[in-house]
Amino acid sequence: MKREQWGSRAGFILAAVGSAIGLGNIWRFPYMAYENGGGAFFIPYLFAMITAGIPFMIMEFGMGHKYRGSAPRTFAKLNQKYEWLGWFQVMIAAVIAVYYVAVIGWAISYFSMSFSQSWGQDTNAYFFSEYLQLGDNSPSKLGSIQWHIAIPMLLAWAITFAAIFGGVKSGIERASKIMMPLLFIMVIALIGRMVFLPGALDGLNYLFQPDFSKITDPKVWSAAYGQIFFTLSVGFAIMLAYSSYLPEKSDVNNNAFMTVLINCGFSIIAGILIFSVLGYMAQEQGKPLTEVVSAGVGLAFVTIPAAINLLPIPYILGPLFFLALVVAGLSSHISIIEAVTSAFIDKLNWSRRKAASVVCGSGLIISMAFATNGGLLLLDLVDYFINNIALLASCLIELLIMGWLVKLADIRSHVNAVSEFTVGKWFEICLRFVSPAFLVVILGTNIINTLTDGYGGYAQSDLLLLGWGLIAAMLVVGIIINKSSKEA
Ligand code: ALA
Repeated sequence: MKREQWGSRAGFILAAVGSAIGLGNIWRFPYMAYENGGGAFFIPYLFAMITAGIPFMIMEFGMGHKYRGSAPRTFAKLNQKYEWLGWFQVMIAAVIAVYYVAVIGWAISYFSMSFSQSWGQDTNAYFFSEYLQLGDNSPSKLGSIQWHIAIPMLLAWAITFAAIFGGVKSGIERASKIMMPLLFIMVIALIGRMVFLPGALDGLNYLFQPDFSKITDPKVWSAAYGQIFFTLSVGFAIMLAYSSYLPEKSDVNNNAFMTVLINCGFSIIAGILIFSVLGYMAQEQGKPLTEVVSAGVGLAFVTIPAAINLLPIPYILGPLFFLALVVAGLSSHISIIEAVTSAFIDKLNWSRRKAASVVCGSGLIISMAFATNGGLLLLDLVDYFINNIALLASCLIELLIMGWLVKLADIRSHVNAVSEFTVGKWFEICLRFVSPAFLVVILGTNIINTLTDGYGGYAQSDLLLLGWGLIAAMLVVGIIINKSSKEA
């Protein structure tokens, strides 16, 4: 069967950018920059982008373009014994997909509430008690499905399914061509209003004011390095699948540079947007900015709704913000699901329609765990382990295989042969030495810290089962599939 292809170069770039720009850019990045030294965070962030982000993206685009397969097929083509890593990556994508869609579901609910700001004045109590119905639950004591959360999630699944079912060109590419321009227009409209609000400049000062004492803190480097893989959608099967649909004549280097730069530029723009709003809110409430800002999901679903209450024309700016969050999230969710679907198509020779139905159908069912009372806690725990351990481990192993066991120089010659500008020796130095060195230290520290201190105050049994146990199970499944294909 002939492999599907993107219809145009712009279509591919929009899809890749759509995958990269997601929830991670809007709620993770701004807070991370703020917490890790403000303006000074940009130094480790740019360093991570140049030494890990850009070369990793070129490598994955090159691998996808050269081997034309989903992650498991690509690694199997390098050497049969590496197929398990492809499956491990596919499972990372599958796990992310089932909780990522919950956050999109919340954003859809908040979009509909934002017209009348029906979340009320106490947005904190509203989000945790009324909306999530979080009682005395825990990640292993989930309570029951909350239909007001499940239904918007179903809607998100329906859109993802339609795009995947439609195929690379008529589904994913078409969706990206609608979603990405829409996202950019909405964000430009929002920024255009927000930066002129009173107090906005104070917010930006907070974000950009460099605290250089943080530069020597290893945690700041670890945050920057950890963020770069998730935000660029590399190391978890996505960009391999997307680039496997590139036509033969494709400027791989240029595409990779563009994808990374647009994504990281967007993160900075999202930071400007969020901090303008926070600065305004601090001024309105006569509080210091440090008191109005909150971390993680709280930023998008507690702080922003509170800020929207205070904004002029909240019934326009509110829906614009949440719709932007939904669109950014959906275009990434589509790519995460495509990473899984393409692996099924390659491995089992299934038709796209069958693979899309099975993957989205089972994903929908599993994702209901995150629509329960304890869904947020389960999400928090699983997200922590997947991002801070599984994904970093996957990237490190990929780099070790590519840099030390397979000839990375072959990938470099391949990408240089098809691209307008070539990449030099720095590409190999970054991928063989710099990035693995950083990853070993960061991953090692994360593993030791999690083993000694646990995470988030969750019970050890929950960490063992839903964190370590989940990762171990993913590894075992990958190895079993690998073994069985070797014997076949
Ligand atoms: N790259 C996507 C994000 O940042 C997954 O949300």
